[in-house]
Amino acid sequence: KSGYITYDEGYGNTGSCESSITFINGEKGILRYRGYPIEQLAESSTFIEAAYLIIYGELPQRRQMTEFSGRVLRNARIDVGMHRIFEGFPHSSHPMAMLSAMLNSLGCYYPEMATNNRERDLECFDEAASLLLSKVRTLAAMSYRMKSGLPFVYPKHSMGYCQNFLHMLFSEPYHDYVPHDDVVKALDLILLLHADHEQNCSTSTVRMVASGGANLFASVSAGVCALWGPLHGGANMAVVSMLQKIHESGDDGSRFIEAAKRGEARLMGFGHRVYKNYDPRARILGEICEKVFAALNKKNPLLDIARRLEEKALNDSYFVDRKLYPNVDFYSGIILEAIGIPLDMFTVIFSIGRMPGWIANWKEIAEGTGRIHRPRQIYIGKNKRDYIMMKDRA
Ligand code: SDX
Repeated sequence: KSGYITYDEGYGNTGSCESSITFINGEKGILRYRGYPIEQLAESSTFIEAAYLIIYGELPQRRQMTEFSGRVLRNARIDVGMHRIFEGFPHSSHPMAMLSAMLNSLGCYYPEMATNNRERDLECFDEAASLLLSKVRTLAAMSYRMKSGLPFVYPKHSMGYCQNFLHMLFSEPYHDYVPHDDVVKALDLILLLHADHEQNCSTSTVRMVASGGANLFASVSAGVCALWGPLHGGANMAVVSMLQKIHESGDDGSRFIEAAKRGEARLMGFGHRVYKNYDPRARILGEICEKVFAALNKKNPLLDIARRLEEKALNDSYFVDRKLYPNVDFYSGIILEAIGIPLDMFTVIFSIGRMPGWIANWKEIAEGTGRIHRPRQIYIGKNKRDYIMMKDRA
């Protein structure tokens, strides 16, 4: 294909890289973090525990979990100087633009963790990793408050990771937002399911930037930029917009499916470069939708439309022949919308979820061979030709 490159990550021109973090079998729809099936982690683990597993390679023992959670909790607040950076953004700024900038600025506030000297940056890794996991959530909530013209809400030491995030998003000076337990659990599960996913576009970006010796904050900031693309992290927003348009048009989904088959529309949340079977994350999220809507005592026409689209597509040869199945984004957006997360914050939530994976991949590169990535290319441009002076040109 024109422009195709072979990926030389210091393992020769193998076209791939080696990692021990996440295993995917796209044909069978298998996803494992450090060998543990995603279904078991979704059932029994939490986002912070899964983050520890992905970053350090083993399920934490009791003491390790206490220390790790303590570091995350202790790092929830941000330097007051960063408030002033936020105040410099126009209110119309996209949260992903703010998040990427603010994550990179952590290197200015914690320069000892961002020396771009691999050995020194690795010495601070435990603190930097917990700081990043904690502050990405605070920065995300602040970007929402800033855009909404609302005062910032400080994190509370009495709250867990997701409850604190919802508190920082939605509490007001006169009353604390107290979410339903099932809403907190649904958000925790969404983050867990997004925590890593092998060499997707944004994770490969983090590895590329890290391979040059760049610090953790700069590398994940680049990952946020890559995730912002509508074909990658922006898809969950596109799914809800697609469902809203279908709902408003009075279509039951049939017209939209036909338009997609004619190439006039894309069934967002469907298809995947690796999964040629049902994305296991979509299956899990599809199952918890009913629980979230019951907890919120809500009926959601978008969920009914999503179910109909899925049913039609899975029984239509256009999609079946192309092995197009629901991916993680098909149901995640519907749940986020139901728990009150605004559309332009969906990809920010994805960034919070993917942070453990980015951190773990940065660590793998920093501890690895130290070779810079230098993808090769197949040149398809002009052959050698001589310069023509301006006077001799038309
Ligand atoms: C994520 O890499 C990761 O792991 C990513 C991710 C992660 O966790 O990091 O899983 C997260 O990015 C999930 C994907 C989210 N994006 C979307 O839902 C956007 C909609 N999906 C498509 O754009 C597409 O399926 C991709 C980008 C996801 C995958 O594209 P591919 O593998 O490059 O497939 P393709 O574009 O080559 O399409 C193959 C055929 C084409 O038809 P033909 O040319 O053979 O006639 O399938 C068609 C495409 O037109 N097709 C679709 C379709 N996706 C592919 N047709 C309708 N609707 C779709 N969604």
